[in-house]
Amino acid sequence: MNKKILGVMLSAALAASMCVPAFADDAAKKVGVSMPTKDLQRWNQDGANMEEQLKAAGFEVELQYASNEVDQQQKQIETMINNGASVLIIAAIEGSSLGTQLQMAKDNDIPVIAYDRLLMDSDAVSYYATFDNYMVGTVQGNYIVDALDLENAEGPFNLEVTAGDPGDNNARYFYQGAIDVLQPYIDAGKLVIPSGQLEFTDVATPTWGTDVAQKRAEDILSSFYADGTNIDVWLCSNDSTALGVENALAANYNGNYPVITGQDCDIENTKNMIAGKQSMSVFKDTRTLAAQVVKMVGQILNGEEVDVNDTETYNNNVITVPSYLCEPVFADVNNYEELLVESGYYTADQLA
Ligand code: BGC
Repeated sequence: MNKKILGVMLSAALAASMCVPAFADDAAKKVGVSMPTKDLQRWNQDGANMEEQLKAAGFEVELQYASNEVDQQQKQIETMINNGASVLIIAAIEGSSLGTQLQMAKDNDIPVIAYDRLLMDSDAVSYYATFDNYMVGTVQGNYIVDALDLENAEGPFNLEVTAGDPGDNNARYFYQGAIDVLQPYIDAGKLVIPSGQLEFTDVATPTWGTDVAQKRAEDILSSFYADGTNIDVWLCSNDSTALGVENALAANYNGNYPVITGQDCDIENTKNMIAGKQSMSVFKDTRTLAAQVVKMVGQILNGEEVDVNDTETYNNNVITVPSYLCEPVFADVNNYEELLVESGYYTADQLA
């Protein structure tokens, strides 16, 4: 069979399987996809899935990564607009730093989808597609409640907290979801925090950097645990920060190994889960999110009603952005094979 026909058939089959409305216009429309960085594993997956699925649905794609540099992302978005993008999909480095570019998109009638992270302080955001960020936190919090049997055990257990980047609107949702679950046990004295650091601003990790999280964890371990005090649980908002904590523990701690949470099922962290160095992660299947966003793009460009399932939660300080929230899934050493390997997300070799 001729390659082009095969390609069209595959695109049609994929589009049908994802319920992407066939694109009405004959000319391929260009979609600009702006990702924050190639440094963290998840954005590479997001970018690759998005590119593959958009192309399969018949769109032209301009995909750019911004090295976690805000001005680079600003320039890349401006270029996408100048290159004639019909829709922009943006995962912001810093949610509130793209006002000028968003206004520029609006002036050019280009709809903008905030991808995974909400775009803040602008009315030029058409839709938001993400995972339920608060639920990510509650999954982590509930895991800790079960792992330490906080309902029944007397404790007290020593807890430390490492949260995400204050420039990322998601970070507070993850944090709050987990803290809302844990707060009653903190109030009851079952969980105590030897460092005394619990406020979001005290536990945040600018840039989500592994090195940043590691440095803070090293400081905490040397100041509060060097005398042999055990740490029972370290709530980490995601995998890049969990990795920093795990590195710090490996080099600076000899006590009982704590319960550690994470998010994303990054390869390094999944390996650590298998090796018993991380207790759980939250799996956000980036294929699901990409499929949802591709569907949105098709609906927007076809002038159809756009699927959303939340019109109340995500206010960006100017408007409440209609959102589609995908469901995050709990992952640990017992279900990772089914979730990550059998589903084709990773090969067994990648985790070996
Ligand atoms: C994403 C997380 C990710 C973090 C760091 C957040 O916005 O939702 O999945 O771990 O950024 O990249």
